[in-house]
Amino acid sequence: MTRTLLRGRVLEFVAEPQGPDDQASYRLIEDGAILIENGRIVQTGPFSTALAESAEVIDHRPHLLLPGFIDAHIHFPQMQVIGSYAAALLEWLEKYTFIAEQRFADPEHAERIASRFFDELIRHGTTTAAAYCSVHPQSVDAFFSEAGKRNMAMIGGKVMMDRNAPEALRDTPQTGFDDTVRLIEAWHGRGRAHYAITPRFAITSSPEQMEMAQALAQSYPDCHIQTHLSENLDEIAFARSLYPNLRDYTGIYEHYGLLGPKTLLGHAIHLSEREVSLLAETRSVAVFCPTSNLFIGSGLFDLDRLRRADVRIAVATDVGGGTSYSMLRTLDEGYKVLQLRGQRLDPLRSIYMATLGNARALGLEDEIGTLRAGSAADIVVLDARATPQMDLRMETVETLAEELFLLQTCGDDRAVRETYVAGRPLKGMLAP
Ligand code: GUN
Ligand code: ZN
Repeated sequence: MTRTLLRGRVLEFVAEPQGPDDQASYRLIEDGAILIENGRIVQTGPFSTALAESAEVIDHRPHLLLPGFIDAHIHFPQMQVIGSYAAALLEWLEKYTFIAEQRFADPEHAERIASRFFDELIRHGTTTAAAYCSVHPQSVDAFFSEAGKRNMAMIGGKVMMDRNAPEALRDTPQTGFDDTVRLIEAWHGRGRAHYAITPRFAITSSPEQMEMAQALAQSYPDCHIQTHLSENLDEIAFARSLYPNLRDYTGIYEHYGLLGPKTLLGHAIHLSEREVSLLAETRSVAVFCPTSNLFIGSGLFDLDRLRRADVRIAVATDVGGGTSYSMLRTLDEGYKVLQLRGQRLDPLRSIYMATLGNARALGLEDEIGTLRAGSAADIVVLDARATPQMDLRMETVETLAEELFLLQTCGDDRAVRETYVAGRPLKGMLAP
């Protein structure tokens, strides 16, 4: 049996930080070690020679070892959509996204992109993501089969969409239901795969399809549900015109029984008081997608308002509306969004959000997001001196919070020295 001992500056969060000085929210071991066996963490603590004698030691000092990053909302068929020039969401969808996604009818294309997708996540230190696949079931097969090859914990699902999209991207209430059932039976719980029932958003699902999504959610209560909510003002007006008898956009998902603790709602920017209360009451998760919200020009997420109302929050790239796979870049842009709102996002909280916070939001804290014994050995190795300018800036850094803030402000995939997935160093195996 191979035992691996990673040595480095071990950092994990144990609670949500209450401010930039909240030292009780994390555990930092300056000369720490993580003992790994069969893809799981057996022990995390101070380095000792006794431990080292029983295992193969990989010395990552002086770098930080953290739980791998978690991305709570991303579109795998949109790798070739990043950086598409559009005025706003609906034009961006129609002109680029709905074109690119049609290519996923071809399983070879789906496999090629899925393979590149996981390489990109690994390059950026992301070990788990909640992903939208295309409408085609074969895109989900490609997604989970490539994730399985890398032993990555992934959430994913086929988008259900039966209207307001090109013919080639539309399913029907019945085929959307049948395909989803088959995919859940084939993939959910296989290895580290988790299925997400995925009605794309209210605009592309008819009431009949929403009823089917509700039936799926009732039949498979341990699956996640993911969709989009209130990203853009024109989108909201269109969605409401399609469901004129319902009170508001969130009310559409409420009406079809799609809100709850396993529901991930991408964007959630423009919400009424009633909608915010509804999200809080149902324990649904609002997903903050800063690079996407800025790039598409959708709006500024109101983190403090949602937090005050006790809404659960996650953070995500939303590639290809989002512009980077890096959770560090994402946190940096999130910080700037909140600066514009006059709100503060301190570095402890933001790094917490990308690790333990997102694990909690996804309900996967027992498996990922921590370095506790029993957790999967999904670990990212971060170097705050990765570039010349970061190296120079590090000369004046004195605290952990400052180091994390530098990583988030200036870091990207270059700051990710290694990414371990279930104990295996996968970044080192990527072609440069
Ligand atoms: N709303 C519905 N589909 C999408 C999508 O693919 N990206 C974004 N950003 N918003 C959406
Ligand atoms: Zn999205």
